[in-house]
Amino acid sequence: MRILYLGDIVGEATIEILKKHLDSIKKEWRINLVLCNAENVTKGKGLAFKHYKELKSLGIAGMSMGNHTFSKSEIKDYLEDATICIPANINTDLGKKVLYINYNNQIIALVNMLGRVFLNTPLNCPFQTMDKLLAEIKADYIIVDFHGEATSEKKAFFYDYAGKVSAIVGTHTHVQTADAQVYNNTCYISDIGMCGPKDSILGDDIESVITRFKTGVFEPLSVANGPDYLLEGVILDLGKENKIESFRKVL
Ligand SMILES: [Fe+2]
Ligand SMILES: [Fe+2]
Repeated sequence: MRILYLGDIVGEATIEILKKHLDSIKKEWRINLVLCNAENVTKGKGLAFKHYKELKSLGIAGMSMGNHTFSKSEIKDYLEDATICIPANINTDLGKKVLYINYNNQIIALVNMLGRVFLNTPLNCPFQTMDKLLAEIKADYIIVDFHGEATSEKKAFFYDYAGKVSAIVGTHTHVQTADAQVYNNTCYISDIGMCGPKDSILGDDIESVITRFKTGVFEPLSVANGPDYLLEGVILDLGKENKIESFRKVL
């Protein structure tokens, strides 16, 4: 099974880019299933229902989130029926901690986990949470989106769960790393990158981020405008032998 996992989708304009190009990308790369991180879709933070529906209509089978899961509070109203998994180590009963996706009678369990290093969010331990989930999950493949800042935390998680899950893909930094690898048949990359405006700072408008760093004046950030868009992620080939390759396209 060939899965395209797209990195954090930043801004509504990126949905329009996906509308134009996703079908041809799926054909060219012979993709069976598309997954994505959707924490930055609506104005760069969170996921409004309207945009969730638009991503669904593109055929995206499952979405993971991150530290911006609840940035648009309307997500609480539609989360229950949505094909979204929220970070499993957030201490809430809302939403799904495991999203089960059926593809040709093969079951994929999608899990989202938040790192605790440099992320100012009260969270349960990702390792203890994963242990509990592994005791419950029944699936052919398990994919974890580890949404974290520190590569050390992501790699520790990777080596701890290598051989126990099919793939661990890092998200959150919006910068794709060059360390895609397989160990004990578990695919791994520290960060799959982002889908959003290419000339930007992690998707946000360049000038306002520079102003923040130079002056400490916190202007509200806005998503940068194109014209060029970056689509980044990974392609996972899951089967007897799991494989991973990074995916990057400028449109
Ligand atoms: Fe993000
Ligand atoms: Fe994030």
